[in-house]
Order: sequence, then structure tokens, then C-alpha cells
Amino acid sequence: MSNTPPMKKIVIAGANSFVASHFVHELLVQGFDVIALVRGSSDQSAQDRMNQALIDTTLNFPSNFDQLTVLDYALLEEDFGIPGSKLEWIFSEGVDFFHFAASLKFDYQSKEEIFKTNVDGLHNALKIFNRYSRNNDRLFFISTAYSCGIFPGRFEEKFYPEDDISSFRNYYEQSKRYAENTLKKFMEENGTQAHVIRLSQVVGNSETGVTITDYGIFDFARRIQALSYEFPHQTIRILADPQANQNLIAIDTTVHDLMQLLKVESLPTILNFVANKPVENHQIIQTISDLLPINLVPIKDITADQMNKLEQLVLSGMSFTGNYIDTDIRFDTTNRDHVISSNNRTVSKESLEAMLSYYLDQLHSKYAGKEKADKRDVPL
Ligand SMILES: NC(=O)c1ccc[n+]([C@@H]2O[C@H](COP(=O)([O-])OP(=O)(O)OC[C@H]3O[C@@H](n4cnc5c(N)ncnc54)[C@H](OP(=O)(O)O)[C@@H]3O)[C@@H](O)[C@H]2O)c1
Repeated sequence: MSNTPPMKKIVIAGANSFVASHFVHELLVQGFDVIALVRGSSDQSAQDRMNQALIDTTLNFPSNFDQLTVLDYALLEEDFGIPGSKLEWIFSEGVDFFHFAASLKFDYQSKEEIFKTNVDGLHNALKIFNRYSRNNDRLFFISTAYSCGIFPGRFEEKFYPEDDISSFRNYYEQSKRYAENTLKKFMEENGTQAHVIRLSQVVGNSETGVTITDYGIFDFARRIQALSYEFPHQTIRILADPQANQNLIAIDTTVHDLMQLLKVESLPTILNFVANKPVENHQIIQTISDLLPINLVPIKDITADQMNKLEQLVLSGMSFTGNYIDTDIRFDTTNRDHVISSNNRTVSKESLEAMLSYYLDQLHSKYAGKEKADKRDVPL
């Protein structure tokens, strides 16, 4: 008996996000019907925002564009603010629903927004899914591998209890742990068929180097680039354990694995979508140093008072990366490996160079353009 399910309609909340837009692109290429839920902004319609996100993924528009339906939605409103008749139409055939929408902020001031979006937003999606879905429909919640928080062991593909903020690096991690438990409770109470997909740090395309995310190591690279222009040819010591690592997973690998999910009828509840081998900090830092007029030296034990002014400036700007600079987390992938074909899930040295080089070149062009525009703005 085949375990391959029939081709379903794919519904995606937060379809214009970095990860989801790459997924949508591939779904269209492979002939799926896609319903993209995107919020419109004051100056751009949901359709325009989705179109732009799709172009950004590969710099090409997918050819099977007519199989995409974009709907404006409100994450926290009843029925997402979408008429019931439309939702009935959406769920009239088999559906796999992917919930990508999330706040990726992590600072204290944004705590309320983070929890509202990541926990209440998921709960609302679960209610809507429960109201309209039919037998065999599935909901996939896109979580993060870093819902592990500050965890010493091997993070397994199972639910972990809610915990105090002191067990996490930031509110983003904690909110995703809470969201996972919201989903667990909802499944137990309603018998909903749902799954948690935990992604690690998603980076650019491993083959082309195209990188359109500002997250994690790219945010760090962006800050260092700005600094290197202002203070070129300096050697800067940064607080980072050179042997610690970042679990980076390429966007094309992530999309490949998401596509695999659609082919398997019976899936475990939780899958860790992480790299088989993480990338060590010294390699990331050396690559950035090679690409910019700056020499970064990672040092594990250095305090702010041992640093010069410039080094202290870098330290204060490392708000995100700083929390992840000494991580060496081990992730269990037994469930994933059981259902998804083997794949090289490691970001190679060459891929990392290509991604950082692409990302910094793009920024450089923006800076150069801005500089030109600024000069033009000067009255003659
Ligand atoms: N990127 C990574 O490395 C990574 C790693 C682990 C897990 N993940 C997970 O993967 C998912 C996608 O991440 P990403 O990096 O692709 O995200 P992203 O590009 O930052 O996009 C976030 C998405 O969430 C939507 N969103 C945020 N607040 C919202 C609100 N209040 N109402 C409605 N929509 C809202 C955004 O809509 P607008 O564009 O309208 O703001 C956007 O569609 C997230 O669940 C994230 O936690 C990502």
C-alpha cells in the first residue's frame, strides 16, 4: 500500500515571509494550488507584497502563477477576517495548512507583541483550522529549534514543558515553547492532526549564494560591514567562543524537506529540521573578515573593561548574535530521518562564503546608491 497522499491544496499563513515565500515558489513550480494568507500594508496590497516576496526568492516570477490565490488576512481576528464562505471553499478539498506567521523580535520591550503574534496567533489558526478542516487535513506549525532554550542535553523531537524566561535566551524562544504547548493542548482536547516543524537558523541558497534574510549571522555581518567602512583596517577582538557553533540550514534544503512532508501520509508529531553538522564560529568570523576591510578576532573570555572603545561598540551591537555566541546545541533528528530522505544538510565553507559575499555585496550596492543620492541632495 502506498504511503503517498493525494496532492492537496496548500494554505500558508505568513506566506510572504522569508522561508514561506521560497516554499510557495517551489510549490508553484511543482504544480500545487496555493492559498497565500498575507496582510496588506498601508501602501501595498497583500497580492503585491506576495508578488514581491516571490520575485525576491529567485529573482524570477514562477511560471504557474495562476495556481496562486493571495488573500488579505488578520492573524488575530475571528476567521482571520476572511468570510466564512471563502474559508469553506478553501477547505472544500484536502488541505495541508502551514503556519509560518510569527514575530521574530526578541527584545524585552516587544514581549507583548511577540506572545500575541506567536502564541495567540497560532491558537487562532488552530481554532479556524478546527472549524473548517476535514478528515486528513493537517496543520504544520513552523517553530524554532531554539525553543530548546538554554538546554544542556540533546534536544529531542518531543514536547517540553513551559518554563520561566531564565531558561531561554529571549522572549522569542520562550514564546515558541509556549506556542508548541498551546498546540499540544489543542490537539489533546480536539483531536486535531497537527505537527511541529522546528527550523534552526535558515540562511541563503547553498547553490547560488542568494541570501535575502537579515537574520542571525547576517545581521551581525551587516553591523560589521558598517563599522568596517567607518573604521577600516582595524583589528577588533569580539566576545565569541571560536569553537562554539551556529546551526545553519540552507533555504533550499529547508524547502526540499518541507516538500518531502507533503509526500508522507503518516508523520511524527515533531520533526527537528536542523543541519547535520553546525558551522563553527571561527569559520563564520573568518569569512566575514576575509570579505571586509576588517580583522575580527574571536575571544572566548574577554570582558568589556578589557576592550577598547571600538570593541565595546561591537559588543553592544551584538544583541542577537551575542546570545548565541557560545552555543553548541545537539539536536535529535530520529523522527526526521525516519520519514525524510537523506540529504546533505550541512552548509559548506564555499556555500557560506557565497552567501555572505552575496549579502554584503547587495548591501554595499545599497550604501553606494544612497551615498550617490545623498550627494545629489546637497544643494549646489
Ligand atoms: N528565519 C529563520 O532562520 C527561522 C528559524 C527558525 C524558525 N523560523 C520560523 O519560520 C517562520 C518564518 O520565519 P521567517 O524568517 O521567514 O520570517 P519573516 O521573514 O520575518 O516573516 C514573518 C512573517 O510573519 C508575519 N507576521 C509577523 N507579525 C504578524 C502579525 N502580527 N500578523 C500577521 N502576520 C504577522 C509577517 O507578516 P508581515 O510581512 O506582514 O509583517 C511575515 O509574513 C517563523 O515562524 C519563524 O519563527 C525561522
